[in-house]
Amino acid sequence: MHLFIHLTEQQNYYLWRRYGLASVLEVNNLTKIYGSDENQVKALDDASFSIDKGEFVLIVGSSGSGKSTLLNMIGLLDSPTKGKVFIDGIDTTKLNDNKISSFRNKKLGFIFQFSNLLSDLTVLENVLLPRQIGGTNGSAKKDARELLKVVGLESQMNKRANKISGGQAQRVAIARGLINHPSIVLADEPTGNLDSVTSDMVVQLMKSMAKKLNQTFIVVTHEPQHFGSVDKIISIKDGRAFEGEQPSELEVFA
Ligand SMILES: Nc1ncnc2c1ncn2[C@@H]1O[C@H](COP(=O)(O)OP(=O)(O)O)[C@@H](O)[C@H]1O
Ligand SMILES: [Mg+2]
Repeated sequence: MHLFIHLTEQQNYYLWRRYGLASVLEVNNLTKIYGSDENQVKALDDASFSIDKGEFVLIVGSSGSGKSTLLNMIGLLDSPTKGKVFIDGIDTTKLNDNKISSFRNKKLGFIFQFSNLLSDLTVLENVLLPRQIGGTNGSAKKDARELLKVVGLESQMNKRANKISGGQAQRVAIARGLINHPSIVLADEPTGNLDSVTSDMVVQLMKSMAKKLNQTFIVVTHEPQHFGSVDKIISIKDGRAFEGEQPSELEVFA
């Protein structure tokens, strides 16, 4: 439960900063219904959970269970039918359309199944894109180079994005997702399009970045066994979310 729901945003944010009372993410009674009348689909049904800073979290469940729906609402790419998403103690359902895109750019990093790099730009330029949208500063290039070094692609930074492999592209996407030092990195099936060796490499890279930077990651996957131990698992079945610690508990949903 969010304790300070009746306070102003400033008061709420102050308390969050001062006492660390709220989590980096809090999802309260989140519900999403697509369509209308007899075509209605309840893709997400009253989901509530919270995530602390630095946690590496998996969202797992079979195809069509509601994983992307949940991630898209946390990522402010879609709005809920009911319920709330708090990020860094801020009630995102109260942000207007103008504020939402800058908030999203500042607070969230995205990694998708397909790396979605702009093929005409170089590797370095792709990593810099979110920073440029938010207004570039002097350290941007240095930060981007540093991140490319960490993902092992410093030597490729001036190559065009269409000249690198799928695994390399996904590593560039990870660097791009981290460039704005987001509160949360959201990844939807980031290994879904990779062979198993490359997939393992990308998983290990995300986990090591999470640890090194105390960076919160929320990763959607239908293959949790590839991730080893993580801080938290949210499993979804037919739009209902459960918190489960042990991957073995999830086998019924796999
Ligand atoms: N834009 C949409 N319009 C209507 N139904 C949708 C839409 N997006 C997803 N759904 C439905 O919501 C349910 C959950 O979908 P989704 O979140 O994509 O599942 P997952 O990512 O777990 O495979 C599915 O039944 C899907 O068909
Ligand atoms: Mg999906």
